[in-house]
Amino acid sequence: MEHIKSALKKAGVLDENIESVAPARAPERRMPVKEFEATEQPEPFTLRQVEIDQKHLEKTRIVSKSMDDPNHIAFNLLRTRVRKAMSDNKWNSLAITSPTAGCGKTMVTLNLAFSLSRNPGLRTVVVDLDLKRPSVAPTLKVEPDRSIAQYLLGKAEAKDCFVQVDPNLVLGLNSGHTPASSELLQAPKMLELFEFIETKLQPEVILFDLPPMQSSDDALGFLPRVDTSLLVVAAGTTTTAEVDECELQISELDKLLGIVLNKCESAKSEEYYY
Ligand SMILES: Nc1ncnc2c1ncn2[C@@H]1O[C@H](COP(=O)(O)OP(=O)(O)O)[C@@H](O)[C@H]1O
Ligand SMILES: [Mg+2]
Repeated sequence: MEHIKSALKKAGVLDENIESVAPARAPERRMPVKEFEATEQPEPFTLRQVEIDQKHLEKTRIVSKSMDDPNHIAFNLLRTRVRKAMSDNKWNSLAITSPTAGCGKTMVTLNLAFSLSRNPGLRTVVVDLDLKRPSVAPTLKVEPDRSIAQYLLGKAEAKDCFVQVDPNLVLGLNSGHTPASSELLQAPKMLELFEFIETKLQPEVILFDLPPMQSSDDALGFLPRVDTSLLVVAAGTTTTAEVDECELQISELDKLLGIVLNKCESAKSEEYYY
């Protein structure tokens, strides 16, 4: 984390006095998990399997599905640090947010997800909860059957909002623009979605791609439901004041795992460097 802090300072987006990692705290599991009765059997169901177009991933900077692009190493490092913190604390849910749109939340979420799910047995679920500007499906060029927003509105079944893209990777997709997104994210139906994910998909790690913190209260209202979060900031775009404010808000909820500095130019790469 010291590297991230010094990179942030170098990029001029982190104040000297700011601690970017939340202090360690007692292990806790916040997801509501339904306990099956001894006689109850889970209903069998199958998820739609989707083939991802690797050529499209090159355009959208998803470098972690195959290991051909050397930039995937940065996400392996992030994966290892995230996994260690999560397993040390017995956490399984991680939200990804940013101060403003376009910082790279979806890019980081998906690269981290592909990197995590390459580990045998590390079943990973990504849920697109940026209900106003969902971008998991377009970033991967996948057409959703039904969306998470439709599920939250009671218009779709949970299983129809998820697709399987790799043996260990399942995605909850969204489409369109949902106006009352903040209320939906805090509605009781969201707890049913958690229960579906926990009991039916049974992931080791759940990543929530959230909206930016400064465009609405969607992210802030949802953060209490997860174990921890990453704040993605963009070098050259995110200001120190934005980092300070978001960091303070997330830290007050005791949900900040760390800050990811994205779009940081470096002599190490000709095009871009994470
Ligand atoms: N490190 C990077 N270098 C260059 N472009 C990037 C980088 N990370 C993301 N982008 C591009 O920035 C745009 C916004 O990224 P995205 O992940 O959709 O942001 P968000 O989800 O935070 O709105 C996309 O076009 C994405 O390809
Ligand atoms: Mg996005």
